[in-house]
Amino acid sequence: MHAQVGIVGAGPAGLILSHLLHRAGIESVIVEARSRAYCEGRIRAGVLEHGSVDLLNATGLGERMTREGLVHRGIYLRFGGRSHHIDFAELTGKTIMVYGQHEVVKDVIAARLAAGGTILFDSSDVSIERFDTAQPSIRFRDANGEAQRLSCDFIAGCDGFHGVCRPSVPAGELTFFDRIYPFAWLGILADAPPVCDELIYSHTDRGFALFSQRSPAVQRYYLQCTPDEDIDEWSDTRIWHELQARLQGEDPPELIEGVITQKGVTAMRSFVTEPMQYGRLFLAGDSAHIVPPTGAKGMNLAIADVAALSAGLERYYRDGSMSLLDGYSAHVLNRVWRAERFSWWMTSMLHRFDDQSAFDRKLQLSELEYITSSHAGSQSLAENYVGFAMT
Ligand code: FAD
Ligand code: DHB
Repeated sequence: MHAQVGIVGAGPAGLILSHLLHRAGIESVIVEARSRAYCEGRIRAGVLEHGSVDLLNATGLGERMTREGLVHRGIYLRFGGRSHHIDFAELTGKTIMVYGQHEVVKDVIAARLAAGGTILFDSSDVSIERFDTAQPSIRFRDANGEAQRLSCDFIAGCDGFHGVCRPSVPAGELTFFDRIYPFAWLGILADAPPVCDELIYSHTDRGFALFSQRSPAVQRYYLQCTPDEDIDEWSDTRIWHELQARLQGEDPPELIEGVITQKGVTAMRSFVTEPMQYGRLFLAGDSAHIVPPTGAKGMNLAIADVAALSAGLERYYRDGSMSLLDGYSAHVLNRVWRAERFSWWMTSMLHRFDDQSAFDRKLQLSELEYITSSHAGSQSLAENYVGFAMT
């Protein structure tokens, strides 16, 4: 088999890259370890930055998002028992879109297949080779267990944090920067009406909670928990009780309970790989970097990476120039580090740390008070949250 670009992974990064390349007349094949149903059902991020929404709309992927997504003009920060609104629309002129990552994935898979694209689901034993030459290839077993080799001009490593691409680069060629946080998020999906018109990020003495949404009838809520939390110890009753407790104070928003349809624990880490390229292997999305979820940057970074990567590949196939591809890593790492800083800062400001002193706690509250009462403070949060222009 041959393709101009071989893509490992059918998450948001790999799928959107394949779509953008197709629009530029470049053919790609995606090799994915999981089934289509698994990829389409994996519940993860839920907020699209302004620039991500624009990109999906401009490239013909926005039809269902525009119909079913929820446009939010801001968020609430709740602390000291009170909610404070940050009005992104007023502060930046931009809004965000609440639309589940798995809905984006469904939309792109449908578009790729309708356009005759190839996504090899259920592949196994995936490995990459010769990516330090001009003839790299991807080896794998197809869904029938047959050994296959896909030769290509470039490999895009879009296979997430636990994928094979990043670890295939020879030792010493990449530098890793990371931080592990001493807590995790217990996330649920519930069939219930929303607790509020927009998302609530809640700082409490019991720990952080996030009240997000998926649709008028389905809500996504998160509770700060320990990294080794045993999900079996969290009955539905205990989850609702804890969510209620983390909304208490003045005028508590009315949390209406419903049926919990999904529960899971997500670890929190910050991680960056530099550079995001080795020879003809380009890393994009979670394969190259991870942010803690506070701030909703993960999927948006994946989209921004592949927008830059597809522009570089387009230039190469148009006039043979490697100039944009050679600059890919430095270009996207600028945005990556901004998102790393923002996500680390939101995480540090909003969570309860076990080793925190009373003084540290007071500093967190003072920072929240500053951010919500100062125009400059709230504008800085808003500008980072809605995201920077994709260039
Ligand atoms: P992924 O979505 O991870 O896609 C990688 C793809 O590669 C997958 O389909 C995988 O099956 C495939 N793959 C892996 N290994 C191989 C292999 N060897 N061969 C072939 N294919 C392979 N972000 C937020 O902003 N908010 C959230 O609430 C949030 N929750 C999250 C919860 C979890 C459990 C996780 C893991 C991430 C979460 N994120 C969240 C982060 C966000 O979902 C990611 O940033 C986003 O999925 C990145 O997209 P991606 O395409 O780079 O990687
Ligand atoms: C969601 C996740 C986030 O990390 C966040 O900051 C906002 C929303 C979500 O899954 O809906």
